Amino acid sequence: MDHLTKTENSVKWQSPSNIAIVKYWGKKGIQIPMNPSISFSLSNAVTETEIVYTPKQNTEEVSLDFYFNGTRNHAFEDRFLKYLTQIKSEFKLLTQFHLSINSKNTFPHSAGIASSASSMSSMVLCLLSIEHKEKQLSKDAFLKKASYLSRLASGSACRSVYPGFSLWGKTSVLHSSSDEYAVPLSEIHPVFNDLQDSILIVNSKQKKISSSAGHLLMELHPFKEARIEQANQHATQLIKALKLGDFASFIRLCETEALSLHAMMMTSNPSYVLMEANSLKIIEKIRQFRNDSGFDLCFTLDAGPNIHLLYPKLIKEEIIKFIKAELLVYCESDNWIVDEMGNGPKKLDKQFYER
Ligand code: PMV
Repeated sequence: MDHLTKTENSVKWQSPSNIAIVKYWGKKGIQIPMNPSISFSLSNAVTETEIVYTPKQNTEEVSLDFYFNGTRNHAFEDRFLKYLTQIKSEFKLLTQFHLSINSKNTFPHSAGIASSASSMSSMVLCLLSIEHKEKQLSKDAFLKKASYLSRLASGSACRSVYPGFSLWGKTSVLHSSSDEYAVPLSEIHPVFNDLQDSILIVNSKQKKISSSAGHLLMELHPFKEARIEQANQHATQLIKALKLGDFASFIRLCETEALSLHAMMMTSNPSYVLMEANSLKIIEKIRQFRNDSGFDLCFTLDAGPNIHLLYPKLIKEEIIKFIKAELLVYCESDNWIVDEMGNGPKKLDKQFYER
């Protein structure tokens, strides 16, 4: 943190991105999802955020400056200011302190990894720490609050506060589920405990249509009701598959969800296509390799052209050989990122948050 001197008045958290298996697509009201979604947190794709806070005159205004990778970033600053102004009744500190927020990602921007999930959740965790919430609340209540506030910043961010799998959105099959925050999925069969995610970068450029614009197009989408029904069924089936260790169902659900997400984009009004020719080539190769080898591997996509290749750690060596031999040719400058399921956020300053 070059431009900051470490003072007593700072906190620092690291929080991961996540990859959804059942996709959140479409929202209502204030960041309420149209359907439940299920994701797992990543390990290497994380944002580290440090907030240095200094007393200021108590005014109603939120005041902050925002640095991304050491450089002041006005676009992010505006987004954070807008969000923090919206939630200022939640935190006394927002009117008492000036905040200097310094954030950095361990992964490239626009690489098919949701950076808003990791950046927003790490910032929220810092704010909660400044108000000593981890001392005042139980661990569960602290993470629920972090998830709730992260959701208001960026929907999918609410799933990043937990290790492993989490679910966001009300579903009748899990009583603790909620539209307002994510909950951890605890009944997970060991075959899913070490899922690997190799991210094949087809195109690293900023996507043409933002996720916010995509969510909005679901409001009048001709297949809206069918999609909500499908996602609910998929969430129910995935919860069961994760519990039973049913990899075949996991593969079917994962790929159908990814293609349904993109089908929604292709059939909205106006329609748009984020997949590219090389995304389709990779999908075809993955399916062919699965048929030929009998290995448990599958793909998913976020709202972009890049492919997340998922598989258990047990077959990592074979899959890496396959990627190098058959998939890299379809990647931009042979670019791919190695990641896997992670342990959730971590407090990085001196008062460690015990998990
Ligand atoms: O959280 P947002 O508004 O960036 O939306 C994310 C939507 C998807 O990444 C496409 C799916 C998901 O559930 O993460």
